[in-house]
Amino acid sequence: MKTTISEVGKYVDQSVTIGAWLANKRSSGKIAFLQLRDGTGFIQGVVVKAEVEEDIFKLAKELTQESSLYVTGKVREDDRAPSGYELTVESVEVIQMAEDYPITPKEHGTEFLMDHRHLWLRSRKQHAIMKIRNEIIRATYEFFNEQGFTKIDPPILTGSSAEGTTNLFHTKYFDEDAYLSQSGQLYMEAAAMAFGKVFSFGPTFRAEKSKTRRHLIEFWMIEPEMAFMDHDESLVLQENYVSFVVQAVLQNCKLELKTLERDTATLEKISAPFPRISYDEAISFLQKEGYEIEWGEDFGAPHETAIAEAHEKPVFITNYPKDIKAFYMKPHPERDDVVLCADLIAPEGYGEIIGGSQRIDDAELMKQRYAEHNLSEDAYKWYLDLRKYGTVPHSGFGLGLERTVAWISGTEHVRETIPFPRLLNRLYP
Ligand code: 4AD
Ligand code: MG
Repeated sequence: MKTTISEVGKYVDQSVTIGAWLANKRSSGKIAFLQLRDGTGFIQGVVVKAEVEEDIFKLAKELTQESSLYVTGKVREDDRAPSGYELTVESVEVIQMAEDYPITPKEHGTEFLMDHRHLWLRSRKQHAIMKIRNEIIRATYEFFNEQGFTKIDPPILTGSSAEGTTNLFHTKYFDEDAYLSQSGQLYMEAAAMAFGKVFSFGPTFRAEKSKTRRHLIEFWMIEPEMAFMDHDESLVLQENYVSFVVQAVLQNCKLELKTLERDTATLEKISAPFPRISYDEAISFLQKEGYEIEWGEDFGAPHETAIAEAHEKPVFITNYPKDIKAFYMKPHPERDDVVLCADLIAPEGYGEIIGGSQRIDDAELMKQRYAEHNLSEDAYKWYLDLRKYGTVPHSGFGLGLERTVAWISGTEHVRETIPFPRLLNRLYP
């Protein structure tokens, strides 16, 4: 019976064949332990000299790391194995005997591993992180589909910017200038006026000159946008969404979290509601803690970490000064120096994972913002139309996938949370 490592539990005490790679190997005169992986998981194959044909045992001892194989053996339940099963090998067929594999079980530096990202992805830890990433994506679709959202795909090549012009990725679009999308938001607003509740999931690009553990040049964002929803209602949706995703990972990625030695006690506490503090309160808190920061300044990573450390759950910082936020944010009804927005700060120092706001729905005010921000009325005419033809209160947000994966999986740097990271100094592999 041909099967995969993730399915072996269905074949206890039966003989199965698995297409696999040799991740690692240990052997003595009488027994060889093959660490096998097939993409769905890892399992140990045990080759006992006395129980197999002579040439099979000899072959098992000669196998090189990452050789590709068909392994046939009997599935055994084994409490000591992380997956709960072991394979008593009966025969091995080599597809290819691999050349000297560059990533050996010894320690390697990050730059070396990044240069070999196409191979590094095979390792147990990287595999676990990508599986958690996949579960977050799966749970995202489940959550928004359940809540009656329609998935809409905004364009990647755009003629205008959503989040300011400082980190735009410029390209030529035949004879015109174009930019890679920084955010699908403006298009999602148009979609919300057509479909009510929508979400997108796609790559976004920022030519950030920052080299930090939280910044990628190309990252993936989930951007929901909701017609007839105010900012407070949006915050409730956000905390329910994030809690749902964390619980899904806890439930469906137990093995991966164990592989990564993630402390799950902190994740188990993540349930709605999340605390909310205003920007004003955050500034007072930071000043009391001895940070030199004035009202009107944006938070840096150390500020966000200090605020996060005062809470067990993710925390919303609401109502930032208008001058440090995007042009489209709706002013606070009682104060025109702050806007109806919130950033969600993850626990344990992983930083801002969501940026969201209620959007300006008044055409006149939007036009005024175009002028203040030097936005061309031509390029943003279609966006103004949304305020002219049946405008409604609406809100939305963007969740950065890689930062969320980093937090939930307990991975220090976002470069390990995307299959092929695009960084300031890295376009390969
Ligand atoms: O706060 P940002 O810039 O918000 C927007 O783009 C809004 N238009 C979203 C919306 O309302 N539809 O980005 C949203 C999130 C951040 O909170 C962060 O998690 C992530 O995107 N992010 C990055 N992740 C990795 N590398 C970068 N360079 C990132 N920049 C933002
Ligand atoms: Mg932001």
